[in-house]
Amino acid sequence: MTSGFSLPRVGTTDNPVRLAVLVSGGGSGLAALLRYQRTPRCHRTTLVIADNTDVGGLQHGRDAGVTSVGVPLPMEVEKRKRRVAHERLVNAELEAADVELVVLSGYMRILTPWFVRRWKGRLINIHPSLLPDFPGAHAHRDALAAGVSVTGCTVHLVDEGVDSGPILAQREIEVLAGDNEEALQERVKMAEHILYPEVLDRLCSGQISL
Ligand code: GAR
Repeated sequence: MTSGFSLPRVGTTDNPVRLAVLVSGGGSGLAALLRYQRTPRCHRTTLVIADNTDVGGLQHGRDAGVTSVGVPLPMEVEKRKRRVAHERLVNAELEAADVELVVLSGYMRILTPWFVRRWKGRLINIHPSLLPDFPGAHAHRDALAAGVSVTGCTVHLVDEGVDSGPILAQREIEVLAGDNEEALQERVKMAEHILYPEVLDRLCSGQISL
């Protein structure tokens, strides 16, 4: 196995792998995953965490009866130590809920090596480009600026880099003439919403090895 990655246990519909989904925005990916999990799967979302209390995605969790908490940055902590202090709060929620796999679904914070090492192999991200192309927070803008004719989305295990780590699956989406960021984002999201649950099925049923 690629060094340092410890994959989740094999789940069953009777004893699904307990997922936490981390969001920063509207959470359409979270909503799609929760819809998918209405049918018993080998994974189940048991916790939603947002990096603020007013994040729209929290409502999708609440609507599905899933514990959903906003964990804002602890502004009382001095700036230099705030990022890790925030991650410790997030980690405490994950541990209290006995979470086994963490899914970054539009979570827009870069995680520190401390957090990544704690969850390595059990921390996956969806990114709206065909990595390694266009990492970072502006994937669609960067893809349009580069003039590519095909972009897409990537699900990968998270390592200590930014949008790097072993790629589990990708889907291509054609860039159409006249596309702007919003139009492209919407089409890529539709692919993400199908890809993410598929990868979770494979990962949580022991079909992925590194
Ligand atoms: C998704 O397209 C996801 O791939 C992207 O944010 C969007 C979240 O949408 N993530 C990143 O850009 C991470 N670097 P949503 O809140 O509607 O699910």
